[in-house]
Amino acid sequence: MAVGFFVLYLFHMGRQPMVVVADPELCKEVGIKKFKSISNRSLPSAFSGSPLGQKGLFSTRDARWSAMRNAIVSLYQPSHLASLIPTMQTYIKSSADHISSNITEDINMSILSHKLSTDIIGQAAFGVNFGLLDAENKANKDCDDQNEVTEFIKEHMYATTSLKMDLSGSFSIILGLLVPILHKPFRQILKTIPGTADRKIHQTNLKLSKRVDEIVAKRASEKSRSSKDFLSVVLNANDTDKASRQLFTPDYISALTYEHLLAGSTSTAFTISSALYLISKHPEVEKKLLEEIDRFDPHDKTLNADELHNNFPYLDQVIKEAMRIHTGSPLVARQTSQKVEIGGYILPKNTWVWIAPEVLHKDPKHFPEPNVFRPERFDPACEEEKKRHPYAFIPFGIGPRMCIGQKFSLQEIKLTLIHLYSRYIFRHSHKMESPIEFDYGVVVNFKNGVKIRAIKRVNN
Ligand code: HEM
Repeated sequence: MAVGFFVLYLFHMGRQPMVVVADPELCKEVGIKKFKSISNRSLPSAFSGSPLGQKGLFSTRDARWSAMRNAIVSLYQPSHLASLIPTMQTYIKSSADHISSNITEDINMSILSHKLSTDIIGQAAFGVNFGLLDAENKANKDCDDQNEVTEFIKEHMYATTSLKMDLSGSFSIILGLLVPILHKPFRQILKTIPGTADRKIHQTNLKLSKRVDEIVAKRASEKSRSSKDFLSVVLNANDTDKASRQLFTPDYISALTYEHLLAGSTSTAFTISSALYLISKHPEVEKKLLEEIDRFDPHDKTLNADELHNNFPYLDQVIKEAMRIHTGSPLVARQTSQKVEIGGYILPKNTWVWIAPEVLHKDPKHFPEPNVFRPERFDPACEEEKKRHPYAFIPFGIGPRMCIGQKFSLQEIKLTLIHLYSRYIFRHSHKMESPIEFDYGVVVNFKNGVKIRAIKRVNN
C-alpha cells in the first residue's frame, strides 16, 4: 500500500481471487511483460452471458483472439482511417447544424454526441446510416425498414446504458461471485421470471442478436459491397479466403460488428461531452484552443489526416486532459491463464487482475494537483510530461490487448471539437448540476448528461 494511493491491492470478491493494480510499472508488467500469462479478459457476467458479448474481441481468448485481431487490424491503419474523414465530417456537420437550429435552447451534449458517435460507427461498422442526427429521420437509404433500425438502436441504447459493471445489475452476477457454480443455473431460472434484471438483459440480448444477424445475412447475400465499412470488408475477405471463412463464421461476424457499435459509440460520446463540459468551465483553455483552431481556419473545410495530426497540438493536450479527469474506462480487466508472479506476489491461475487507470490518472505523483484541469501538463516540452512514467496515462488500456479503436475515436473526437469550436462556444446551462454526477454502466457516463448552451461565434 502507498499512502493515499494503492499500487497493488489483493482481495477476494466472493470466492474469486482478485488483484487491483495502480502503479505504472506494475501495469506494464501485467499488460505487456507478462502478457503471455495474462492475455485474456475477465468479464462481467452480464456481458459474457450474451451471444454478442461472447464472440467479439473483448471476450474471445488466446489463439482465436489473436487471429481475429490480426485479421481486422488493417481496418485501423492510418490510410483506412484517413478515408473515413469525409464521412465523419458529414455527420459532424449535421450535429453542428442541429445545434444551430436549437441555439436558444439547452442542449444535452451527452445525447447529441451519443447520436453522433452511433451514426458514425453505424456507417463505419455496418455501412448503414442509422439516421439519428437526421431530424426528419429520412436519411436512411441503405436499410429497407426504418422501423427495424429505430427498434435496433433503441435496444442498443438500452444495452449500453443499463448493463451495470457494478453489482446493481443482476442477482445472478452477485450470486455468481459468491458461489461461481450457481451463476449459470440461477441465470437460467431468473431469466424466465418477469421483472428481474436477468430477464431484461436476456431479452435485450436476444433481440439485439436477432437484428444484427439479420443485417449481416442481408449484407452477405449482396453481390457487390463497399470496401469501407467493417462488415463488408470481413464479408469480402470471406468470399475469397478459406482461412477467413473458418475464422469469421456468421456468429463471430455479428458479434464483432455489434461490438464495434457498442465500443465505438458510448466511450467516444463520453469523451466529446466531457471535453465540452471542461472547456466551458475554463475560459483560459477555451481562448487558447480557439486561437489554435482559428489559425487554421477550418470552417467548412475538409481537413486531411496530416493537417489533423500535425496542426492541433493544444487540442491533443485538451483531449488527453479531459480523458484523464474523466476516465471513461476506470478499470481494465485481465485474467491469469496460469500461475504468474506480479510485483513479487504469486497469483494463481484464473485470478482476476484489474488495472485501474482511474486511480493512476489521479495519482499526484504523476499528475500534481490531479483535480485541476490543466491541458499544458501534456505539452511534450513540459517537465511534468517529460518526467512522467509512459504508462501513467492509459485511457485506452495497455499492451497487445489495448483498444483497437483508439485512432478511430481520436480522429472523430478531434474533428468534432474543431468543427464545433469553429462555429460556437459553449456555456453550462443553469440546469447543469454541480458537482457533476456519474453513472457506472458498461462504460462511465454522465448521470444527467452535459447540459450546455451554444453561442454562435461572430463571423462564423
Ligand atoms: C474514447 C473512446 C474509447 C475509449 C476510452 C476506449 C477504451 C478502451 C479500453 C480501456 C479498452 C480495454 C483495453 C485493454 O484491455 O487494455 C478497449 C478495448 C477495445 N475497444 Fe475501445 N475505447 C474507445 C473507442 C473505441 C472505438 C471507437 C472502437 C471501435 C471502433 C473500440 C473498440 C474496442 C475493442 C474491439 C476493444 C477490445 C480489444 C481487444 O480485446 O483486442 N473502442 N477500449
